[in-house]
Amino acid sequence: MSAQTATRVSSLYLHVPFCAQKCAYCAFYSEPAGGELVNRYVAALIREMEMVADDLQPHTIFFGGGTPSLFNLRQWSQVLQSMARLNLLGAQEFTVECNPATVSADKAKLLRDFGVNRISMGVQSFDDALLDRLGRIHSRAMVFKSFDILRRAGFDNLNLDLMFAIPGQTLEVWRSTLDEALALGSEHLSSYEVIYEDDTPLFAQLQAGKFDVNEELACAMYDELVERAGAAGFRQYEIANFAKDNPLTRLEATFSPLSGERTGAKGAIPRSACQHNVNYWRGGSFYGLGPSATGYVRAVRTKNWSNTQLYCELLEQGKRAIESSEALPPLKRAGETAAFGLRLVAGWPFEEFCRTTNFDLRREWSADMNRLADRGWAEILPDGFHLTRQGLRFADAAAEMFLR
Ligand SMILES: C[S@@+](CC[C@H](N)C(=O)[O-])C[C@H]1O[C@@H](n2cnc3c(N)ncnc32)[C@H](O)[C@@H]1O
Ligand code: SF4
Repeated sequence: MSAQTATRVSSLYLHVPFCAQKCAYCAFYSEPAGGELVNRYVAALIREMEMVADDLQPHTIFFGGGTPSLFNLRQWSQVLQSMARLNLLGAQEFTVECNPATVSADKAKLLRDFGVNRISMGVQSFDDALLDRLGRIHSRAMVFKSFDILRRAGFDNLNLDLMFAIPGQTLEVWRSTLDEALALGSEHLSSYEVIYEDDTPLFAQLQAGKFDVNEELACAMYDELVERAGAAGFRQYEIANFAKDNPLTRLEATFSPLSGERTGAKGAIPRSACQHNVNYWRGGSFYGLGPSATGYVRAVRTKNWSNTQLYCELLEQGKRAIESSEALPPLKRAGETAAFGLRLVAGWPFEEFCRTTNFDLRREWSADMNRLADRGWAEILPDGFHLTRQGLRFADAAAEMFLR
């Protein structure tokens, strides 16, 4: 089947594998940027886009990393002009991840001019000592400045990333970070508990006994997050993600067959939710370009090489830079889709799950759903299944039960 006759893929992720310096906790594939390699990478990424453009009609685009905002104006122009030439612009949601230290008015204007309409900024904390401890290159002052630059450039859909349970962070410091973040008035908030990833300096410090993990404090911080974000007008729609509620959403929820608050009803996902990520959690297809990126197209999962030099060499030879590709058997894929979707507060409406996977949760996973409900981790409703607040805290363990 040619790309013209098949339904084209509506979601595109592009990975930019460069950072000014590596943060102490981070295991995303990226390396400190070196001038010529970035130019070479830009050319390779454009080549990779050319190879898949015919099969794409992007509804969502997400430049992640790494630090996409590290590109200079010329590099961004090259990338965006190539996207225009390949008919890849015009997405309903077009996100670029930014580090607050690398935002400028010129860059913000260029991105807006080419249709970028959402910026996700890695803030992490408003406490300069903690930012330092995390190895961040930005200060709290830069967050305010960059936020202002982005607003002035016309961005009306901004996300802030925060982290909690950082070693040395007290409940008081977390509360004031939350309050300062909420006071900025972004449309979206993502907030992650620190994960101790192998091979990171923070993990090495933990292993060396430099600090302890305090699970009780982490729980208290999560509770603060959920409460304060809710009080500031955010709706939690995923374990770590909150979006500004809006009147339309409430209206949609009102018209859903069951309460939009508690069920899989569509209205429970706010309109300012990250549509790109909702597509992942709902088991949708997407192309993933750039080193280390994964993609999922027509039941085949691919992963690119996590090596920028090799990525460039392969693209320069006219080859895709795919390290592995796996055609997923339908039941395995359905199990993964079930597991992903449980991260959403809305869980899974039974009908939607059937439409997505051709499997029925009530048939294949009935025993697992009952076991979770008995533990108080989930609720089974007439038309859907979702984790409870307690279940969301243990979502990884709950999700594992659905894998086949
Ligand atoms: C790719 S980064 C965001 C953009 C940009 N690179 C930056 O950091 O400013 C994605 C987000 O994942 C979160 N993150 C990364 N590593 C993490 C870890 N080990 N534990 C918890 N959150 C993490 C951070 O909040 C980070 O902002
Ligand atoms: S958190 Fe962001 S800036 Fe820090 S190393 Fe990871 S990708 Fe780079």
